[in-house]
Amino acid sequence: MAPKDGQPFRLGILASRNGSNLQAILDRCLSDEISACVSVVISNNSKSGALRRAKDVGIPTFHLSGWTHPEPDRLDGEMARVLQDHGVDLVVLAGYMKKLGPVLLQAYPNRILNVHPALLPAFGGQGMYGMQVHRAVIESGVKVTGVTVHLADSEYDQGLILAQEVISVHPADTPEGLAKRVLKLEHRLLPVVIQRFAAGQFETVH
Ligand code: GAR
Repeated sequence: MAPKDGQPFRLGILASRNGSNLQAILDRCLSDEISACVSVVISNNSKSGALRRAKDVGIPTFHLSGWTHPEPDRLDGEMARVLQDHGVDLVVLAGYMKKLGPVLLQAYPNRILNVHPALLPAFGGQGMYGMQVHRAVIESGVKVTGVTVHLADSEYDQGLILAQEVISVHPADTPEGLAKRVLKLEHRLLPVVIQRFAAGQFETVH
């Protein structure tokens, strides 16, 4: 996947929550650390910070969920349609808490990234999201945690790992404190991986 001549590389962001990762991506696009633009933001949560942040800067937003589309097949098809209608080249799950459907996965083979707040394959899978991850990390007694950016597939937190960054878990860490430190890393690592796609450096990932 090489950059298209004269055309901006277009990102489609899926986010369920506060949208701080979306904000990090928007900031890096503005500062040209990512040679791309965010074309559309989709959330399953109509009240998400992610939708608010996108609206604030005039990016098209869509609330698509089991509430707007009770039939999973219709929801899957609509998400793929919206991303394609906005010319999206790379889909980024930036704090997106839902599984992806087959239509969306087939529309973007090897072009959907997920960021996870731990070192996969540890502390991933169903139920391992947000603060639950950091609680489990602390309870387990491991000495390190970190961030994983990987290709998304039909399962939670699986798919080829593209990048990881490690930090120490301190004896005095609380889940909230650890979450903050890990989130800072996410804000750095996810844009780096996105820029590699935008620069055509992941052409051989299959
Ligand atoms: C981030 O920590 C992200 O890694 C996590 O949700 C948070 C969203 O924060 N995602 C998962 O746990 C997915 N398994 P944000 O809305 O501020 O970007």
